[in-house]
Amino acid sequence: MRSIKIQLLAVLAAAFGLASLPGQAQMQPAADITNARDIAIGVCGTCHGPHGNSINPMFPRLAGQHAWYLEQQLKAFRGETRGDPYAIAYMWGMASGLSDATIDALAEYFAHQKAGPGKPHRPAVLAEGKAIYDHGIPSQGLPACAVCHGPQALGDSMHPRLAGQHAEYILKQLASFKSNMRDVAVMHGVAGTLHDGQMKAVADYLESLP
Ligand code: HEC
Ligand code: HEC
Repeated sequence: MRSIKIQLLAVLAAAFGLASLPGQAQMQPAADITNARDIAIGVCGTCHGPHGNSINPMFPRLAGQHAWYLEQQLKAFRGETRGDPYAIAYMWGMASGLSDATIDALAEYFAHQKAGPGKPHRPAVLAEGKAIYDHGIPSQGLPACAVCHGPQALGDSMHPRLAGQHAEYILKQLASFKSNMRDVAVMHGVAGTLHDGQMKAVADYLESLP
């Protein structure tokens, strides 16, 4: 199944010129920018949705995410420093042929798309998730997520927007931070402090936000 998907990706990537020779893309930044929208819709859109509001929770929503953060992640995939089996299977290859100019243009494209609505969850779970998000858990030494990700979880350039993100994706990232497959010191500390039920509550709360 995975190998069929990877073959499909190779075909898509070739069709959109992502598999161009190393160095070639960097020589044509203007052409890259013109192509970025086509790539965003025609290639990235097959998984992330043409406007970045993916339906399948395996694929993170990119709509309304901050351009700087998107840029850093694409460079981390390209540099093979953001690990995790899904990142390796799906995004390392995707990002490998992208020039800096194309990465900038793709990040701008998705940052300017309108984020989709949140998804409803049970009020009791939402209340628990919101309490953790807003106040942290002092007895466990957990800081409030809001301190970094903002009161409405809209983030800022250095901290990703979490509002409306798929709960399943959020849980998977927290697990990857915890195991250091996605190696980010500050989130390793945060994820290591949360119990499974608390992670689920905060992920459901975030998914519910517009
Ligand atoms: C075949 C499916 C697929 C395609 C096509 C694809 N992606 Fe992804 N993308 C993924 C998956 C899966 C992840 C989650 C990786 C993980 O769980 O660590 C991801 C993660 C990302 C992230 C990280 C988001 C975050 O919130 O940290 C960015 C940015 C991204 N992709 C951008 C792109 C761009 C730009 C393209 C087109 C050039 C693209 N993707 C094409 C599957 C895909
Ligand atoms: C001290 C600041 C800080 C705190 C507190 C914090 N975060 Fe983060 N978080 C970050 C930074 C910085 C990143 C971006 C990491 C990177 O560059 O890959 C991040 C990334 C994430 C991501 C990955 C998003 C994506 O699109 O892939 C999730 C999920 C997340 N944080 C959830 C939380 C939750 C839930 C809490 C509270 C329990 C929390 N964070 C508290 C700084 C923080």
